[in-house]
Amino acid sequence: MSDSQSIPINANASWPHGLNIRARCAADATDMAALHNLPGYRFGTLRTPYHTQEQIRKGIESQPANFISLVAVIDERIVGDIGMTHFSGRRSHTANFGMGVHDGYRERGIGSALIGEILAIADNWYNIKRLELTVYTDNEAAIRLYRKVGFEVEGTHRDFAFRDGRYVDAYTMARIRN
Ligand SMILES: CC(C)(COP(=O)(O)OP(=O)(O)OC[C@H]1O[C@@H](n2cnc3c(N)ncnc32)[C@H](O)[C@@H]1OP(=O)(O)O)[C@@H](O)C(=O)NCCC(=O)NCCS
Repeated sequence: MSDSQSIPINANASWPHGLNIRARCAADATDMAALHNLPGYRFGTLRTPYHTQEQIRKGIESQPANFISLVAVIDERIVGDIGMTHFSGRRSHTANFGMGVHDGYRERGIGSALIGEILAIADNWYNIKRLELTVYTDNEAAIRLYRKVGFEVEGTHRDFAFRDGRYVDAYTMARIRN
């Protein structure tokens, strides 16, 4: 694991003090399991309870080439992550992503820094025209973040996922680059 400070891909980045963003690596499995097991992180994502570091390590080691995964690090602790899947063939102009910030580190600009980095990579290095995502309809913080960087709601998936004893709807949102 490298402690060196990354140079942002996003030319307009202003990361919070002490934050570094870098590629995820196998040595991150323990930290990633801790992040993905947080109740707030789980509530906003498709994570299930009690992820093991072994499951996460295997996922990292078998990461497909079309998946770009970044972690946000403060004081050598992983405090957020974002992963973008670049589709192929006739959908090669498209990608989707998922993300989350540590329950104890929200509202400090970490989510903005992560999404700014993935947008710069998608726009300037993969020439992605259509970036898409799904978000639970009650996830106000995430919806506001996505709207702020140009995503629009396209529709609603009803009973999209099972979460804490009931089905929840999700919006599909996209950002089209002209
Ligand atoms: C959504 C999430 C990624 C935001 O990360 P964050 O680091 O707190 O976000 P930032 O501090 O960069 O805030 C960026 C914007 O998000 C929105 N936002 C963040 N927290 C918010 C809150 N509690 N209420 C309303 N809007 C909020 C605001 O628009 C904010 O911009 P502003 O500060 O100019 O108002 C974070 O809440 C999270 O990880 N939640 C749990 C997992 C999850 O839901 N992942 C998304 C799955 S689709």
